[in-house]
Amino acid sequence: MAPVLSSLGLILSSLEALSSLHAGFSNAVIEQVRSNLIAIASQSWELGTAAEALTELDWPALSVFNASAIPPPYELDPANNASDVLKIATSTVSAKPSDSLALIANDGAVGDPASIGVAVLLANWTDSSDTSYASAASEQLDYLLNVAPRTDSGAISQRSDQVQLWADFIYMAPPFIAYYGALQGGENGTSLLQTAFEQISLYRDVLRDDDGLWRHVALGSWEDSTHWATGNGWAAAGMLRVLETLDHSSVASDFAEQSASLAQWIQEIISTAWQYQAENGTLLNTIDDPTSFPDSSGTALLASVTYRMAVYSNDTSLIPYADKAFQVIGDSIDENGWLRNTVDPETFDTPSAASSASPEGQAFVLLLQAAYTEYAQSVASGQVLPTSNSTSSSGSSNGDDDDSNILRRCRLVRRK
Ligand SMILES: *[C@@H]1O[C@H](CO)[C@@H](O)[C@H](O)[C@H]1NC(C)=O
Ligand SMILES: *[C@@H]1O[C@H](CO)[C@@H](O)[C@H](O)[C@H]1NC(C)=O
Ligand SMILES: *[C@@H]1O[C@H](CO)[C@@H](O)[C@H](O)[C@H]1NC(C)=O
Ligand SMILES: *[C@@H]1O[C@H](CO)[C@@H](O)[C@H](O)[C@H]1NC(C)=O
Ligand SMILES: *[C@@H]1O[C@H](CO)[C@@H](O)[C@H](O)[C@H]1NC(C)=O
Ligand SMILES: *[C@@H]1O[C@H](CO)[C@@H](O)[C@H](O)[C@H]1NC(C)=O
Ligand SMILES: *[C@@H]1O[C@H](CO)[C@@H](O)[C@H](O)[C@H]1NC(C)=O
Repeated sequence: MAPVLSSLGLILSSLEALSSLHAGFSNAVIEQVRSNLIAIASQSWELGTAAEALTELDWPALSVFNASAIPPPYELDPANNASDVLKIATSTVSAKPSDSLALIANDGAVGDPASIGVAVLLANWTDSSDTSYASAASEQLDYLLNVAPRTDSGAISQRSDQVQLWADFIYMAPPFIAYYGALQGGENGTSLLQTAFEQISLYRDVLRDDDGLWRHVALGSWEDSTHWATGNGWAAAGMLRVLETLDHSSVASDFAEQSASLAQWIQEIISTAWQYQAENGTLLNTIDDPTSFPDSSGTALLASVTYRMAVYSNDTSLIPYADKAFQVIGDSIDENGWLRNTVDPETFDTPSAASSASPEGQAFVLLLQAAYTEYAQSVASGQVLPTSNSTSSSGSSNGDDDDSNILRRCRLVRRK
């Protein structure tokens, strides 16, 4: 009797766990969002972010979130060919002038061209017939480490013409430096992994405020001290990619302490940010300024990090916030697959014009879908168990949400 009862209990608790899941975005919506992204991504950071989003969504076996992704195979399976990602690498490397160390010449930003470097490293690894990818990647690394200006403390500037630190840098450069190191292996590889971590730490020293949120831009000729939602997303999501790269490298055990710090630094951003979540699930463009406007881009990116972190740390306490955010993102995608209510990614402080869309916002929807897919798979396989009281920390800012699907689902789980 006892084993039967306990397996019945297991089945019931799995059913409860499954009932806490939602369906994710439909294939049709994702199709449109993806093709719109590919149609409008043109700036260095947009291409790098698009390449990462396409990798995570369409070729998850090759993304650093997969435990067996490092190193990738020498030859890609035809059915797992990463064609859209490699296309970005190929067109970037073939357009690169030979006198530019950076992947994109004269970009002005130090970190942004490096964001395409992960795709270039993948192209190199999986195509031994073409050495131009390896040279381009190593020149990009050389530029970051040996040419770009730095602060006295050693933080690599995000601008080439002056020393200025931007939260954005964390998504652009450290994931490339870490992936380079993880693929290279040996002492030099280990030292690059450490460099990626140290750059994050140096940036955090300058940009983090006491409540855990990061300011957007510091030092140099102007500053943006606001807690920009997308900037906090860049920081948290960039740290997460480095964390996953460290963890899935061959020297993961040597980096346990750095990994624990990164996990804590990501967590402090997301747990603070969601305290300011609006009733309908959105975050504001300046997270903690009630006069700011809603921004779906930053909301999507921070929700993606929240789903990934729940899997990483087996802690689902922030999932109710991510689920609410997921819902508002769904409501913000129009019938043609454009994410609406975005911040203008070039001004940072005004909403996108009605006639224009945000390339990075399009990419963040794909990152959100990829993250949610991994989370849902982890719940379905029993690896992550939404705890019966996982919603206890939500509620406060949610007010009277009696008809919210999310809370109803959570109640189903709680009724145990
Ligand atoms: C990771 O990639 C391997 C193939 O390299 C695949 O078998 C596995 O399912 C992937 N896991 C996830 C969680 O995507
Ligand atoms: C790449 O993979 C996709 C999806 O599996 C497939 O539809 C496409 O035909 C493949 N492309 C090439 C060039 O093999
Ligand atoms: C390029 O790929 C090859 C494997 O195909 C690898 O041995 C080499 O280290 C790679 N170069 C870089 C810079 O990652
Ligand atoms: C490690 O880096 C040093 C300095 O850049 C270089 O001289 C050496 O050849 C590298 N070692 C390997 C194994 O790549
Ligand atoms: C969410 O609520 C904000 C007000 O807090 C509103 O401005 C915004 O339009 C709403 N978003 C959607 C998609 O309804
Ligand atoms: C995650 O936590 C739940 C309890 O909250 C536990 O039952 C489960 O075994 C944990 N999973 C892992 C992989 O540690
Ligand atoms: C969840 O419940 C357990 C056991 O009742 C309790 O120890 C824990 O503190 C609760 N967690 C929260 C976040 O309320």
